[in-house]
Amino acid sequence: MFEKSTYENRRKKLKNKGLNGIAIFAGNIDSPMNYTDNTYHFRQDSSFLYFFGLDFQGLAGVIDFDSGEDFLFGDDFDIADIIWMGPQVPLKENAAKVGVEKCSAFSKLFELVAETIKQGRKVHYLPPYRGENKIMLEKLLGIPIKLLKENASVQLIKAVVDIRSIKEPGEIAEIEKACATGYQMHVTAMKMAQPGVWEQKIAGTIEGIALAGGGMTAFPIILSQNGETLHNHDHSKILKEGNLMVTDAGAESLLHYASDFTRTVPVGGKFTQKQREIYEIVLAANNHGTALTKPGVTYLSVHLAVAEIIAGGLKELGLMKGDVKEAVRNGAHAMFFPHGLGHMMGLDVHDMEDLGQIYVGYDDEVRPVDQFGTAYLRLGRKLQPGFVITNEPGIYFIPALIDKWKNEKINTDFINFDKVNEYRNFGGIRLEDDILVTETGSRILGERVPIYPDEIEKIVKG
Ligand code: GLY
Repeated sequence: MFEKSTYENRRKKLKNKGLNGIAIFAGNIDSPMNYTDNTYHFRQDSSFLYFFGLDFQGLAGVIDFDSGEDFLFGDDFDIADIIWMGPQVPLKENAAKVGVEKCSAFSKLFELVAETIKQGRKVHYLPPYRGENKIMLEKLLGIPIKLLKENASVQLIKAVVDIRSIKEPGEIAEIEKACATGYQMHVTAMKMAQPGVWEQKIAGTIEGIALAGGGMTAFPIILSQNGETLHNHDHSKILKEGNLMVTDAGAESLLHYASDFTRTVPVGGKFTQKQREIYEIVLAANNHGTALTKPGVTYLSVHLAVAEIIAGGLKELGLMKGDVKEAVRNGAHAMFFPHGLGHMMGLDVHDMEDLGQIYVGYDDEVRPVDQFGTAYLRLGRKLQPGFVITNEPGIYFIPALIDKWKNEKINTDFINFDKVNEYRNFGGIRLEDDILVTETGSRILGERVPIYPDEIEKIVKG
């Protein structure tokens, strides 16, 4: 974990945000796979981790904004736990590591919350996403589970988003550690991209690299020769010479900070001319995205500028037609680039997505766009120094989407459907880097995973 002062300072920042009453931060518990004691790998709740730092099960933190006190609730281990799990640190000692003096048995949380409600003071909580915490909050607050999300504290959400959006130097260092592991994962995947290899063997090998790095993957690995399916977790196929293999994968650091990279390589190591032409467009889009990323610009404007690069490149190849700006205004690029340019990244790969994208990615000035494609942009608002974001343009040929647009005559002024038909079985290409918004611009985090087509071919060919 970080130094005690890191957690004390974060809670202090939150206390300076003008809230009254108390805030509950529910930690996570183990989640069973198939019976109670056979659990998935434990993952702590990220906001709990951010403010209370303790990476184990069965805890809740409370901040009292009126008195300035912090509380930790949890149960000390008994002899049975120690027999199975080994010697354990007492709760009080753990609490001291994150600067919390007041700690009590978990059941006391119920008394504290009941007393706060009786006093007529506000109880803030963040939107819960795990069943157990929903049940706990329902019991604590008397709010039915189905109403918990809409009753979560917008004031607390906004305050937490404000603080967590700006990464501290220690957090950036952690993200760079996750990037170093991510680099190894991707270069290994490239080297393994040979005809006859099972996709799962590559996915499993690079997942092993993440685990061997001490963390776990930041999200389930996406690896497929059907890269036109954006989140393809099916790794069942055997690699075939000349196919494109998309790998979208990242690791968590020991302190649970994420990396998230995507690379696309030709199986066997040689891009066809068609593949290279599309690849060069996505690469130009990616480079343009990084070049435009700086404080004060909206990521929505970067997304749209990147969409113009994509539409312009596709027009040169005869796949799109007409005025490029007009095509992007009409959303025509989205048949090929149907997702957003990127998202915040930090303790979560989609950082703070549990708190609500509307608060993380948008504000009063920049509102979400309701147009197919751009509607999936998770981050649209003005960039600030300290934001860590992904830059992940792509071009995909999705047969079902092509057919739908063609049959429904969508954007026929801008798309040359006859030419598109020649690319029907192309698959997809996505290229993703993680970038830090600096005081003057941006920089790619970690050593950049090889991205230029010649270097990719060289690595795959070995
Ligand atoms: N890299 C996976 C995602 O952004 O959803």
